Amino acid sequence: MIKVENLDVVYGSKNASNHVVRSVSFDVGRGETLGIVGESGCGKSTLLRSLAGLERGWTGSIAFDGKPVGTARSREELKLAQMVFQDPYGSLHPRHRIGTALAEPLRAMGLGDGWSEASRALRQVGLPEHFANRFPHELSGGQRQRVAIARALILSPPILLLDEPTSALDLSIQAEVLNLLADQREERNLTYVLVSHDLSVIAHMCDRVLVMQNGIFVDELTKADLTEGVTHAAYSRELFEASFL
Ligand SMILES: Nc1ncnc2c1ncn2[C@@H]1O[C@H](COP(=O)(O)OP(=O)(O)OP(=O)(O)O)[C@@H](O)[C@H]1O
Ligand SMILES: [Mg+2]
Repeated sequence: MIKVENLDVVYGSKNASNHVVRSVSFDVGRGETLGIVGESGCGKSTLLRSLAGLERGWTGSIAFDGKPVGTARSREELKLAQMVFQDPYGSLHPRHRIGTALAEPLRAMGLGDGWSEASRALRQVGLPEHFANRFPHELSGGQRQRVAIARALILSPPILLLDEPTSALDLSIQAEVLNLLADQREERNLTYVLVSHDLSVIAHMCDRVLVMQNGIFVDELTKADLTEGVTHAAYSRELFEASFL
C-alpha cells in the first residue's frame, strides 16, 4: 500500500542545511500498521508530513497502492493518505463548528456541502450528531481527537498517518481512541503508519516497528520482538530502556 524509496528531506539553504530524513526506504502492506519510534527531532513528523503531501521539499519516491505521487498532489492523490496530529486543536479551526470542520474536506473536493457525511462521520466515531453545532473548545480532548479522526476519514482514504495521536490524552481516553483506531482499521481495511513514544501503544497497535535515529532507520522489530523485549541495534535497546521501560 505504501512504498517509499530513498526519501530525503533537507531543510534550510546550502550554508545552513539540515538533512532531516536521509535516504529512507520502507514498505507497508495493505491493512498493516507500521510503527515508527525514535527520539525527539529525529525526523518522524517530517517523514509523515512528506507522505501526507504537507511537506514539499522531499526527493526520492513515494507510491501509494502502486501509484507514484509527487511533491504537488492532485485532489485524488491527496485523498489517499490523511494525517492525524497529536494536538487536535492544531488541526481544528477554533471558530469553526465541528460540522463545518468535518464538511470542509468534502467541500474542498467539490463533493457537495458535506453535512450529511459530517453527521455520519460523528456517529462512526461514537459522538452524537448534535456535536456538529459545537466549537472545538466545547469538547473534551478525547472527543476532539475523535473529531480529528472522523475528519481524516471523511474522504475514505486507504491510509492514515498518525503522529502521536494519543499522547496528549489521559491514559483511560488513550485506550478508547486506540480502540476506535483499531476498529476503523478493521472495518475499512486501513493501512496505518503510527508514530508514538509509548511502547505499550506501539505494541498494542503495530505489526512492525522501525527505529529511527538522526533521519535513518537503524532497526526493525516485529510484534514478537516487542513483546519479548528483543532489539537488534544498540540504539534501540538504549531508546527502549531510556524512554519506555
Ligand atoms: N519546517 C521546518 N523547517 C526547518 N526545520 C524543521 C522544520 N520542521 C522540522 N524541522 C527540523 O527537523 C528536525 C526533525 O523534526 P521532526 O519534527 O520531524 O522531528 P520528530 O522526530 O517528529 O520529533 P518529536 O518527537 O519531537 O515530534 C528537527 O531538527 C526540526 O527542528
Ligand atoms: Mg514529531
